[in-house]
Amino acid sequence: MTAFILKANSSGTYARAAAIIEQGGLVAFPTETVYGLGADATNAQAVARIYEAKGRPKFNPLIVHVATKADAEALAEFSPVAKRLASAFWPGALTLVLPRRKDCPISDMATAGLDTVALRVPSEDVAHAFLKAAATPIAAPSANLSGHVSPTDARHVMEDLGERIDAIIDGGATALGVESTILSVTGEEEVRLLRPGGATREDIEAVLGHPIGTGPEKAAMPQSPGQLPSHYAPHIPVRLDATSVSSDEALLAFGRPLDGAAAMLNLSEAGDLNEAATHLYAMLRALDDRRFTAIAVMPVPMTGLGLAINDRLKRAAAPRPKEEA
Ligand code: TXA
Ligand code: MG
Repeated sequence: MTAFILKANSSGTYARAAAIIEQGGLVAFPTETVYGLGADATNAQAVARIYEAKGRPKFNPLIVHVATKADAEALAEFSPVAKRLASAFWPGALTLVLPRRKDCPISDMATAGLDTVALRVPSEDVAHAFLKAAATPIAAPSANLSGHVSPTDARHVMEDLGERIDAIIDGGATALGVESTILSVTGEEEVRLLRPGGATREDIEAVLGHPIGTGPEKAAMPQSPGQLPSHYAPHIPVRLDATSVSSDEALLAFGRPLDGAAAMLNLSEAGDLNEAATHLYAMLRALDDRRFTAIAVMPVPMTGLGLAINDRLKRAAAPRPKEEA
């Protein structure tokens, strides 16, 4: 059966979505970053359906979304530095990986059996209304098939998952366009950047007052698709740092475009990284056409949201685990 579309501004949408969640169903919903595929995080069977619908490996834990900081504090241990980060960035595009509280009701299926839990309070009004109505923590990865480009519009969710989920709350295009930044704050003070995203490194370091470490401590890290070399990938090859383009390639431009491509879309003609982030995934999807030999991508600077954009582009360009037919 095809997913039911629930309009973000219609009466009844949130009650209907909450009823589906209560029955263990799957509801895709917009956040300020990308669309999430939500299920009741305390219901193991419902969470199992997320992995099944996405074709996602079960050892990969999910982000748990709640409506307020107080809701988050009921689930995990917040050190002083975690509290500071939560106050500064929530609601918003920051995910904190924190030690689970002893009485944390989140299913092991959502945390992949880890003693930590990834928490986020999204800022988008539609997400907030949905989380309020559901009145339970919502586990939600990005609402795309595992390994594919993330969805920034209800239409993208329909393309990837329309036949596999119960409903999609349609709130139009997302405001930010790249996923949340993931920080692990499991020790007293140590903060590690697990994934660059919507909250910039510069802003995080300004709140902390010092630089943050990059990358996981090997032993503590789960294997996660978002951190696998190939992820966020279109079907045709992606070629990075293009300084010229051939006539059988599609060009993903940034700033003044190169000449000579078979097709061209511009992340931001003005060279604005925020604008580029909002366009990134939709343009990768739009240029992903087998008429082209590759998507050639012009260089994007490594400041602000550029860190997250370059991270996703690098994974989109990485060698694929297996060739597709
Ligand atoms: O913006 C976002 O973060 C979106 C929206 C829907 O909120 N969600 C998202 O989820 O990108 P997903 O599942 O595609 O990425 C979640 C990442 C994965 O790489 C996962 O391994 C990591 O979070 N993660 C979750 N729980 C973790 C934990 N306890 N320790 C370390 N990493 C964790
Ligand atoms: Mg994802």
